[in-house]
Amino acid sequence: MGKSFYITTPIFYPNANPHMGHAYSTVFADIVARYHRLKGEEVYLLTGVDENTEKVVRAAEAAGKSTDEYLAHVVSNFKTLFADLSISYDQFIRTSDAERHWPGAIALWKKIEVAGDFEKRSYRGLYCVGHEAFITEKELVDGTCPDHGEAPQVLEEENYFFKLSKYTAQIKEHIESGKLEIQPDTRRNEILALLSRGLEDVSFSRPAGKVSVGVPVPNDPSQKMYVWCDALANYISALGFGQNEALYTKFWPADAHIIGKDILRFHAAIWPGMLLSAGLPLPKKIVVHGFITSGGTKMSKTLGNVVDPQQLISEYGAEAVRFYLARHVSPFEDSDLTLSSFKEAYNADLANGLGNLVSRIMKMAATHLGKPVAVPEQAIPQSFMDALDAYHIQKAADIVSESIAALDRRIQETEPFKLVKTDKQKAEAIIEELVVGLYAIARMLNPLMPDTCEKIKALVRSNSTPETPLFPRKE
Ligand code: MSP
Repeated sequence: MGKSFYITTPIFYPNANPHMGHAYSTVFADIVARYHRLKGEEVYLLTGVDENTEKVVRAAEAAGKSTDEYLAHVVSNFKTLFADLSISYDQFIRTSDAERHWPGAIALWKKIEVAGDFEKRSYRGLYCVGHEAFITEKELVDGTCPDHGEAPQVLEEENYFFKLSKYTAQIKEHIESGKLEIQPDTRRNEILALLSRGLEDVSFSRPAGKVSVGVPVPNDPSQKMYVWCDALANYISALGFGQNEALYTKFWPADAHIIGKDILRFHAAIWPGMLLSAGLPLPKKIVVHGFITSGGTKMSKTLGNVVDPQQLISEYGAEAVRFYLARHVSPFEDSDLTLSSFKEAYNADLANGLGNLVSRIMKMAATHLGKPVAVPEQAIPQSFMDALDAYHIQKAADIVSESIAALDRRIQETEPFKLVKTDKQKAEAIIEELVVGLYAIARMLNPLMPDTCEKIKALVRSNSTPETPLFPRKE
């Protein structure tokens, strides 16, 4: 058995259909997961949905459905999207799953309780359902939360507080020493700055009568767990923590949590605090990506600038969506995506780039070579491996694009289709070399565009041209 590698996506709020941001976190994790499988490692990729939120209850009400009915519908849309995008997840966890998820969340709660890190306090605060977190007066603009355009609820209630503040120094030490890596450095600095100011204790439960969904607090039926408390626990509950721990023993601690920048504090402060309290190992790394914006602003339903991944998939194919996300979205900064930027990139990278290259090379091979080229098992370029080892999926996609351009140049320089008339032997040798180069590109495509990788390999093996262009040009 190879080395084990555990990678997770955030679990998504299923209060609306998935959008490009959700697709991005997931494709990112899938590319890294496929790469590690290619290296022979035993990989576990976890994704899923974060269902115990009032957002879902409200969305269901607005749609005139019961919460369960609504969830069944939206969750199936997430699953369809992930299947269409060839997401090779090993498990799709649902936090409403009382058999799979709740025992782990409860076991973790109990460990924190035994450590003496819960305290019941009465509390008054401003709660933003959009954030699923308390916010401060200072953060409000004209009395509303600027991110969600809604006035917070004034809550006055008894909650269990998690004594996160006492773990500030330990969390800081883990991050400073690199035991818990935060990538990129800008996000690491951001969280270190927060830690230097000191962490506050967090409310970790809600009165059961006030929330309609949630995991029950063990031994206190009057309370339900705060949604982020049970959501973060998914990373170990999915591995059977607290019940059958075979997967947990094999895969925890996670090699990487892939997250967006808006949920850094939860993952790099609250989650490590919970694990330290429970005496469990911390994840090795948190990889923090930026936002996909559209026309310069964050995609949002109210602004009407949401790019629907399914629309792009039906027009361009899922492989094109994967490649775009890898090559044109910066992993660590915000990036803009519009329908027209997508089309332009598709035509340049795939229709005129890769697709055209495959057609040209395989046409020459099928016409001039009597049999398939015996392609050597060449290694994947080290620079490509280095990029993916560093979670730099964009660099990896750039290397593929550079290789495509280099092969294109080689055809232009050598013109084997002309040379074949004057020096057949030399022309054949060049065509063989081009096929070998194409096969090398196909190997790199394995994590990025798994279907295209297999298609190109099959064409090389059968020495044939694609019946229809792999990536038809779009006008
Ligand atoms: N449910 C929480 C996460 C719990 S993880 C234990 C949540 N859900 S979310 O659905 O709001 O967001 C899920 C992920 O999608 C986050 O990583 C978030 O950063 C990402 N994105 C949401 N909108 C995005 C963009 N427009 N662009 C890129 N990713 C963004 O937060």
